[in-house]
Amino acid sequence: MRICNSRVFQLRALNKPHAFVASNQGVKEILEDKEDMLEMGYKDFGYMYSLYGDLVIFNSDDEALRLRNILHKVFRPEEVARYMGEVEIVSSRLLNSIEDKDVVIPYKLFKVLTTEMCLQLFLGLELENAKEQAASITELTIAHWHGLISIPVNFNWYGYKSDYTKAMVAKNRLLSIVNKRLTEETNGFLNVIREAEFKSKAEMANHVLLFVSALVPKALASLMTSFCIELAKPQNREKRLRAAQDDRYLENVLQEVKRLWPPFLGGRRLAKEEVIIDGYKVPAGHYVGFLTRAANCDPKIFPEPEKFLPERWDTCNQLDRERVWTFGSGPRMCVGHKFIHKIIKLLAKHLLQSYEWELVPNQDLTYKWLPVSRPKNDVQVVFTKIGL
Ligand code: HEM
Repeated sequence: MRICNSRVFQLRALNKPHAFVASNQGVKEILEDKEDMLEMGYKDFGYMYSLYGDLVIFNSDDEALRLRNILHKVFRPEEVARYMGEVEIVSSRLLNSIEDKDVVIPYKLFKVLTTEMCLQLFLGLELENAKEQAASITELTIAHWHGLISIPVNFNWYGYKSDYTKAMVAKNRLLSIVNKRLTEETNGFLNVIREAEFKSKAEMANHVLLFVSALVPKALASLMTSFCIELAKPQNREKRLRAAQDDRYLENVLQEVKRLWPPFLGGRRLAKEEVIIDGYKVPAGHYVGFLTRAANCDPKIFPEPEKFLPERWDTCNQLDRERVWTFGSGPRMCVGHKFIHKIIKLLAKHLLQSYEWELVPNQDLTYKWLPVSRPKNDVQVVFTKIGL
């Protein structure tokens, strides 16, 4: 961006021609895709396709619409209200276990919480009675995840396997567990999934694998960590106290966390035809990479873009709530975004009303953005119980 002095620039990445877009207007045009010039650009990350199997995210046009309709039913408000019951059980158990004056590493705490939440919710595991099973499934999700961030070579020599080979083994084990749970469990999410109109058992199981895999817990933990660290900064103490009292202000805080700390740095499309994006011509056959974090911080839309200013949503940016791209937008917007909002709000309220918290002084708060955003180091926060 700095070298080209522009928020739209060209680059060869993964040996393919790419246009990268970091302007808020450009990302809006890509995600809304009003002229239907773009298709999803993830399928030719062949390793990702093999690790997940055929899924909505790899499809375009009618097939994507069919799968999105099914998933919208699985996550319709009545079902989400039921799923929230399970979320409450896991979250109160884990958050109530924070003792007075505990020093907590937020990312670790939230990773445990969100992993357990996903296993209980999406696999129907009663964790109190299935600790060993949960631990071994978690190990499989970690091995599966390592395949996504490793060099995609299959290598198995006298029992020594590459991370990618181990990940494929983990995927197959996870799929057998998912299939077994689909036949055993008669309640909750798995029942809703079974009743949904997937065209085959494999298609159904692949989508459950997506929700059970490490991707969702990591992204959720990333958002909660950013919420927790931002409000633990001494200069944000007043903001934290206000968010505990004022629901509208808490909404503004969460919106600002989503803007500044999106778990995923960006996404990818493929131009089916020549397309104009934010005034730039992108030839047919080029990939288009959109940079969510950069577009969420475009000074053309957001004054003082790097500052954490929840007030902006009631003042200078009150009409720009739909210009935060953390959950995408338009025809391919995240199917789970309303559900996620309910979860993070529940966790945020629980923390705000039960604890005060502040950063241990003099820590390096630098973030890393890949594969999922989070602090580079184990940032520590001290929690103090309210009302003791
Ligand atoms: C903090 C957690 C999450 C974040 C940040 C997130 C973000 C996103 C983003 C940015 C996209 C759009 C990708 C693109 O346009 O290229 C997306 C798609 C999607 N998300 Fe999420 N997501 C999260 C959690 C969830 C959850 C919990 C579910 C389901 C319960 C979910 C289901 C989906 C599905 C099915 C798609 C694919 C939509 C399509 O291909 O049309 N996500 N997500």
